[in-house]
Amino acid sequence: MTLSDVIDVDVFDLPADHPGFADDAYRRRRAAIAEVAARFRPGEPIPDVTYVEEEDAVWRTVSAELTRKHERLACAAYLDGARRLSLRADRVPQLQEVSERLSSLTGFRIEPVGGLVPTRVFYGALADRVFLATQYVRHHSVPFYTPEPDVIHEVIGHCNALAHPELAELYRLAGEASRRCRTDEALEFFSRVFWFSLEFGVAWERGELRTYGAGLLSSYAEIEKFREAELRPLDVVTMGTMSYDITHYQPMLFAATSFDAAVDALADFFARYDDSAWQQLRVS
Ligand SMILES: [Fe+2]
Repeated sequence: MTLSDVIDVDVFDLPADHPGFADDAYRRRRAAIAEVAARFRPGEPIPDVTYVEEEDAVWRTVSAELTRKHERLACAAYLDGARRLSLRADRVPQLQEVSERLSSLTGFRIEPVGGLVPTRVFYGALADRVFLATQYVRHHSVPFYTPEPDVIHEVIGHCNALAHPELAELYRLAGEASRRCRTDEALEFFSRVFWFSLEFGVAWERGELRTYGAGLLSSYAEIEKFREAELRPLDVVTMGTMSYDITHYQPMLFAATSFDAAVDALADFFARYDDSAWQQLRVS
């Protein structure tokens, strides 16, 4: 079976600059996979997606390349999480199998979503050790790039990190911090800190710059470039006020002196953050 054999009446809406925009088979496929997520009910197993060979092939290619690059470029804690989670390399893993393993390792579980969810919903779920993940695979024409989070970003980028106890705890604390944000302004500051740390954070380890950020760890091309970025010391006030452009490689990253230093600073920030902390930080 190939993608073009998958018939579904619905067609998923994609922006004109998306690699799958002109590919009707891909858009039908996206609609069918979103449908699977819509059938999920909390407390019940995540319904399986029957992936086609084209999708499994993208997974095989990207996961093999990323695994090789991670040995050189990922923080030790992430590599340890990846070893514990032991994702399969031969085909796209089902979210249910990843969720069961994750849950036995750190208590985090996965719930499927059809696409991007509101910021408050996505971050807030982390407080309950729930990671909301998409199940679709990026377009096969550009396997090393995706303009939106796909199952490769969610599982390789985030779930490997969530399999490590210290990183999992950081995600949980981040979720709690997001829930304490009553104003959109406080949430915006929080989400920038999250972006520059759990998505694009880097830290020095034994004289080398390495990453613990899911955005870099799931991006085949950008992961090779982060050592060329302009570096600033990890500082939540600067991170929370810095704007970013998701359509380009990040030109500027925040580097912690060590992974432990990143965990300490971020845990301290997330554990105390709320609207009044935001008020104080913006005037400091
Ligand atoms: Fe992400």
